[in-house]
Amino acid sequence: MFRNFKTVPYVIFGRGCFNQLDNIVDERRKNPGSFIVFLVDDVFSNNSFRDRIPVKSQDLQLWVDVEEEPTTEYVDRLTELVKDFSDRLPTGVIGIGGGSTMDLAKAVSLMLTNPGSSVDYQGWDLIGNPAVYHVGIPTLSGTGAEVSRTTVLCGPEKKLGINSDYTVFDQIVLDPELIAGAPADQRFYTGMDCYIHCVESLTGSYLNPFSKSYGEKAISLCREVFLDPGPESDDNLMMASYLGGMSIACSQVGVCHALSYGLSFVLGVHHGIGNCLVFDQLEEYYPEGVEEFRRMMDKNGIKLPRHSLPAVEEHEIEKMVDVASILDPLWENALGPDWKEIMPRQKIRDLYLRLLK
Ligand SMILES: NC(=O)c1ccc[n+]([C@@H]2O[C@H](COP(=O)([O-])OP(=O)(O)OC[C@H]3O[C@@H](n4cnc5c(N)ncnc54)[C@H](O)[C@@H]3O)[C@@H](O)[C@H]2O)c1
Ligand SMILES: [Fe+2]
Repeated sequence: MFRNFKTVPYVIFGRGCFNQLDNIVDERRKNPGSFIVFLVDDVFSNNSFRDRIPVKSQDLQLWVDVEEEPTTEYVDRLTELVKDFSDRLPTGVIGIGGGSTMDLAKAVSLMLTNPGSSVDYQGWDLIGNPAVYHVGIPTLSGTGAEVSRTTVLCGPEKKLGINSDYTVFDQIVLDPELIAGAPADQRFYTGMDCYIHCVESLTGSYLNPFSKSYGEKAISLCREVFLDPGPESDDNLMMASYLGGMSIACSQVGVCHALSYGLSFVLGVHHGIGNCLVFDQLEEYYPEGVEEFRRMMDKNGIKLPRHSLPAVEEHEIEKMVDVASILDPLWENALGPDWKEIMPRQKIRDLYLRLLK
């Protein structure tokens, strides 16, 4: 069976295109009593950018805190705030920020129209009702969250996305000017998420000409951005993220993402940085990718903060292995159908021990 997957229907790209947001959402304001919810990364709450967000008096603006990556508990809380604001549903939910904020916007737009807690929907195609119209506006590039059909959430038991066709944004606004102010190290870590998506997709057994076409272009843009930067680097990074996301939509990620999920679930390590810490240990699986990644680190003056990882206890390592080992498609993509023999539990454990020593 072939995957029949949904993509974002409306995309606007270009420097300054954020200024068109008001026009784009105008359509949603036609009915009396309608309002829009803006979920915005609180890093912009004390920044001149806040004055450019086209919030009207009837709208609800929520500054979101992404110090911790999105949790099901936070999504449920934000959804309640929107429900308490009005008896009606909003006519739009707009997420402005990095992957975490975009994921929060996706999840809230889904939970406004689906009963219960977001925990109930962590998995594949468990969502029954279409979401509220939702728009994604990245201010960091690399995760591909702007194009993916998932919103990654940490729940009480697992870190797992709400994967569904309804999760996909209805509109994205790709304005490279919005990523210009990101701190260099954060820009690198999030950018490497895209680079690693491409390495894992391009070397995986699920690769096909569709994914390959997107992945090859995305990885070559990453090379330009991180090895030979120029005036169009922000534009290129934004496009790399989009294309890298498209590449994995029809293939899969691999060993690095599987291990990084466990790390982040147990220790709360952020996705971009967690990927970098793990990838640096994976020469055996991705020799060329890891060598190039190290050159990118050198070129960009990045020193991985390995010392920041806390000492872990035995049960925490076991939990990391639990989280990583249920991600069958990732392992199968990386290692083939016999992955369970190639990567028994003990070997996953050894990889974590090497990383955390
Ligand atoms: N849905 C998906 O397909 C998908 C894919 C990969 C990762 N993710 C998720 O994305 C998240 C990681 O996203 P991310 O790497 O984009 O980072 P992020 O959204 O977690 O943000 C990281 C930090 O950068 C700050 N920031 C964001 N934009 C900024 C800007 N322009 N200037 C200054 N600071 C800025 C944030 O406030 C935060 O402190 C994780 O939660 C991960 O699980 C989702
Ligand atoms: Fe990723």
